[in-house]
Amino acid sequence: MLVSARSFAEYRAMFALGERDLEQRILDCPAGAASFVAEAGRRGVDAVAVDLQYAEHREELGLLVERETAFKRELLVKETEGWDRSWYADADDMIRQWTANARTFRADIAARPERYVAGSLPELPFADDSFDLVLSSHLLFSYGNRLDEDFHRAALLELARVARREVRIFPLVVYDTGVRYQGLDRLRGELAELGVPSRVEQVSYEYRPGGNELLVLSTAAHRPSARTAPGAAGAPDAPDAPGAAEAVDPVRWRHREPGT
Ligand SMILES: C[S@@+](CC[C@H](N)C(=O)[O-])C[C@H]1O[C@@H](n2cnc3c(N)ncnc32)[C@H](O)[C@@H]1O
Repeated sequence: MLVSARSFAEYRAMFALGERDLEQRILDCPAGAASFVAEAGRRGVDAVAVDLQYAEHREELGLLVERETAFKRELLVKETEGWDRSWYADADDMIRQWTANARTFRADIAARPERYVAGSLPELPFADDSFDLVLSSHLLFSYGNRLDEDFHRAALLELARVARREVRIFPLVVYDTGVRYQGLDRLRGELAELGVPSRVEQVSYEYRPGGNELLVLSTAAHRPSARTAPGAAGAPDAPDAPGAAEAVDPVRWRHREPGT
């Protein structure tokens, strides 16, 4: 799997992020070497990145993007033939942009390591409702050729568990075919039965033809069995309570308690 490094501007377009969204606490999962969290941080946005690679690679992940894209250049040229050119002029331009974004990522992970958390779907190291909005690009559905439906179900439920308001997933097409992930409607039905309704929206970002759909899960009414009501005895402080977790945790998300 290629570790990619998309930018804040691409995230805004892929996830249809408005100004109100950027006032929220955001999780980028999986973030890879994307510069979203770095650029968001500069704008004062409260964003955190999670990726399984952060357990092993941190700053070097930025270098890995440079090495891998250079190594796979021929493949990228072939694969992106006929794709839309509004974001990248060609595969070489994409490699240039990803390299620049990966450098921004490297500088930020070195400067603000607490914003980059090692974690692996379908089990994230965060308490329920730790974030308002969770963004997930280019893993779920995209790698539907190698991640099965059980993994997708478990991963979607996990993203919903840590999202207080919404989860947004982009794109909905499988990487090697460009066709919509075939289990999508089934999974949406199952999530709806569990109290997570969803909708599909078209967004302005369309690099791969047809890959311009975003799945939005509404998690506000979702109450997974493990979820502890804020304010209940033994529950963590409510995220917005004065003097709550911020006092001890500048990032304000909460790690999952062992055994929950
Ligand atoms: C194609 S990159 C996407 C990165 C970023 N969202 C972007 O669009 O530039 C996919 C990322 O998923 C991460 N990944 C793969 N399986 C994962 C899992 N089970 N849990 C968390 N991250 C995972 C990889 O390490 C890789 O960085």
